[in-house]
Amino acid sequence: MCGIIGYIGPKSVAQVLIEGLKKLEYRGYDSAGIAVDDENEIKVRRVKGKISDLEESLAKSPLQGSYGLGHTRWATHGRPSEENAHPHRDCTGSLVVVHNGIIENYLPLKKKLKDEGHSFQTETDTEVIAHLIEKYFQGSLEEATQRAVQELEGAYAIAAFSTQDAPKIVATKVGPPAVVGLGENEYFVSSDINPLLSHTQRMVFLEDGEIAVIEPEGVRFSDFKGSSLEKRVDYLTWTPLMIEKEGFKHFMLKEIFEQPQVVRDTITGRVSLDSGEMCLDEIGISAEFLKKIKKTVIIACGTSYHAGLVGKYFIETLADIPVDIEYASEYRYRDFILDRETLVLVISQSGETADVLAALRAVKKRGAVPLAICNVKNSSIAREAEGLLYTHAGPEIGVAATKTFSDQMAALALIALHLAQLKEKVDSETNFSLIEDLHRIPYRMEKILSQAESIEKLARRFISFSHFLYLGRWVNYPIALEGALKLKEISYIHAEGYPGGEMKHGPIALIDEKIPTMVIIPRDRVYEKMMSNISEIKTRLGYILAIAFEDDKEIQDKVDKVISIPSTNPLFTPFLTTIPVQLFAYYIAAMRGADVDQPRNLAKSVTVE
Ligand code: AGP
Repeated sequence: MCGIIGYIGPKSVAQVLIEGLKKLEYRGYDSAGIAVDDENEIKVRRVKGKISDLEESLAKSPLQGSYGLGHTRWATHGRPSEENAHPHRDCTGSLVVVHNGIIENYLPLKKKLKDEGHSFQTETDTEVIAHLIEKYFQGSLEEATQRAVQELEGAYAIAAFSTQDAPKIVATKVGPPAVVGLGENEYFVSSDINPLLSHTQRMVFLEDGEIAVIEPEGVRFSDFKGSSLEKRVDYLTWTPLMIEKEGFKHFMLKEIFEQPQVVRDTITGRVSLDSGEMCLDEIGISAEFLKKIKKTVIIACGTSYHAGLVGKYFIETLADIPVDIEYASEYRYRDFILDRETLVLVISQSGETADVLAALRAVKKRGAVPLAICNVKNSSIAREAEGLLYTHAGPEIGVAATKTFSDQMAALALIALHLAQLKEKVDSETNFSLIEDLHRIPYRMEKILSQAESIEKLARRFISFSHFLYLGRWVNYPIALEGALKLKEISYIHAEGYPGGEMKHGPIALIDEKIPTMVIIPRDRVYEKMMSNISEIKTRLGYILAIAFEDDKEIQDKVDKVISIPSTNPLFTPFLTTIPVQLFAYYIAAMRGADVDQPRNLAKSVTVE
């Protein structure tokens, strides 16, 4: 997704903007640019390519300014090129705009503006915004912006400035996020908090239809009617160090290794090892309501969907409640039936995924009660849900979700235990044993991480394979899906995840010595069934890597390679089986020289459909 950064303050504007854009790189982009006001003249520099290219260009011919805007573009309308890179200008060249989102009605608007005499330089939807503000500009940039955005349909977070109403940056949003940073005599606007953390921890999150007017003296807020707003200032506890690699080659590897700690951070304080009680009042949904629910629906996308699928097994097994798991991108368009006795869990680490936000809004329209599991504080989904349970993974910079995935499973385990207790589905002994197992998970994760080197060595043998199959059953079927997603999204190797029982219904035709299979086979209720999968594959000369309990001696001579994990409660094995599939994908991608933290075509948060 595109990234926006704006700055007014005493520091070197170009430097602040470039440093800010670097903190937005993880969102995925193909071009970048900045614009500054240099003594009432707008100076723009844009590149097709990386921010390092922009930095090089600025080193050769620097830009001076008293304030400015920066942008990383993830092309939606108009191919990646210097011309289509933001910022975009109006006809006069005295106004610039940067934008994240999609203007659905940009073509009719562009035609109308052209008929009114505006000339366009780019193929982008964004440029329409610059000309609309120009059309309505009568001296006040915020008033012109208020009028211009009334004509926009679609999703947008925009920031603009004009030398005819300076020094001032105006920002507004409907859909994608925009956050204002309040520093000491310096002010920022950004698509997310990462670029701001090294300057301030005081943030104001814009809601849809709100406008921020950023000037050297401070920031004012209003709505689209021009009425001024008093906005809450949030103090964020995330630190700049959290968004540094700290010696790891990639953020993804750092985040894989952070998993034991972030699972501890998500569990701690929410379940008592002494009393066995849950402490989840923070979710904001009453025990009375939860006691009555008859069904749960889980809605998510991508890796979060896979976490939700694990949560389905947790809730069914522990709380004895039926669970539907839905892709948000499908659910939002369905004529789904929901009643007040259904708990809707909406899972999104970024809290900004457009399809999930749309599904949340559709669910609320039908009067159901959505509980969000998010990792980013004050994100759109976190703000719009009725109930909320934050994961405590800290900022996740790698596009491929890892630590947030484990944290989502931890949050779902807490919710499943909470429901099980409220519905009196677990006796005290089982409850304590489950809680102890859950508290042991981080330590067991650490044991697997200590095998990273041997997993790297194993991965080396597979960097030239073009296809992979992942098989799991029951609570590890989602891990087969997640392992396949990790491999394909960062190494670009084709990989498919399947429930083991489906092999006979087609996938077994794939098996030969050219397609290795990763089999997830902890000793659980489907162990023998997974063993049959192994023999089916072996008789067809398939190469098998197995993820199995360390004390499983039976598996050793049935497969080609074993990655051992400590034994644990079978229901909680996904926390452990996840780590080998993450590391395996990471090392293959890294050895293939892939851009692991910013895989091609992908964005960290899909804020457009
Ligand atoms: C997973 O590695 C991907 N980054 C992607 O599938 C991601 O999980 C999905 O886009 C959902 O993101 P969210 O959790 O922020 O909603």
